[in-house]
Amino acid sequence: MAQLEAQDLAQAVIDRMTDCKEPRFKEVMTALIRHAHAFVREVQLTPDEWMTAIQFLTATGKMCDEKRQEFILLSDTLGISMLVVAIEQAKGAAALKDRPEIRGATEATVQGPFFWPGAPQLELGADIGEGNAGEPAYYHGRVTDTAGKPVADCVLDVWSGDGEGFYDMQKGPDAGMALRAQFRTDHDGNYRFWSIRPSYYPVPADGPVGKMLHRMGRHPNRPGHMHTMLQAPGHERLITHLFVSDSPYLDSDAVFGVRNSLIVDFEKHAPGKAPDGRSMNKPFYTATYDFKLVPSAA
Ligand code: BEZ
Ligand code: FE
Repeated sequence: MAQLEAQDLAQAVIDRMTDCKEPRFKEVMTALIRHAHAFVREVQLTPDEWMTAIQFLTATGKMCDEKRQEFILLSDTLGISMLVVAIEQAKGAAALKDRPEIRGATEATVQGPFFWPGAPQLELGADIGEGNAGEPAYYHGRVTDTAGKPVADCVLDVWSGDGEGFYDMQKGPDAGMALRAQFRTDHDGNYRFWSIRPSYYPVPADGPVGKMLHRMGRHPNRPGHMHTMLQAPGHERLITHLFVSDSPYLDSDAVFGVRNSLIVDFEKHAPGKAPDGRSMNKPFYTATYDFKLVPSAA
């Protein structure tokens, strides 16, 4: 029978995959087709609306290059990136019964589109904030595993926008790296560096995703945060943020990334001696945070 009725189309598409050799791909595509068809039926999508959606996705793709990732932004602002992170963490939680040693691991959050691999490798204590807008902040703490054992030689990538909310990548095609670096923890798992106290900022809103947010009646802002990515042999990679505790938008992050355990008090200090002995001639902040990594499964 050649003719298919609307309610049978999804199953017909799924049935065409009988020769598919990849079970997980087949599982994902089957669910995608089922849900996509159900969505179209639920909202009774019109041809004009479908064309608008295709034009939106086309514009989203055209906006992407090696420095701008509009699809990640779409995923972030629809809460999908955070859902994927949460599902991955829930798998960890489900494994707690078999692996009680992973309890207490630092929570993960979204990576976002502004990670730029190959940041300069700097000595502990270096200042990556100098010359950028923003108030100086000293970040320090320790990286351990969940049992409290120090993780030496952990590579800590850090990146943030400046004190006015702009990332280096947003400062034109020729702008070099700024406010990002890689540090390595010392033999006792300690890390320390200077940067700025990051400001809240809008996610890039000059493209199709910005127009979508506007039409949804949503603001595009994220609370101030420092991004971190921690990698150490024998441990699972951790991608997370440190959120500034008195920043606006902690309760309405445009990408739904806030976790209470990642909110950090940035303590303000008068000019004077900083914890690393540096003499500061203007006010500065200190942010203290200890990261706990999950040991890799044996
Ligand atoms: C960020 O924090 O860098 C970010 C995350 C998601 C979307 C846009 C920016
Ligand atoms: Fe960010």
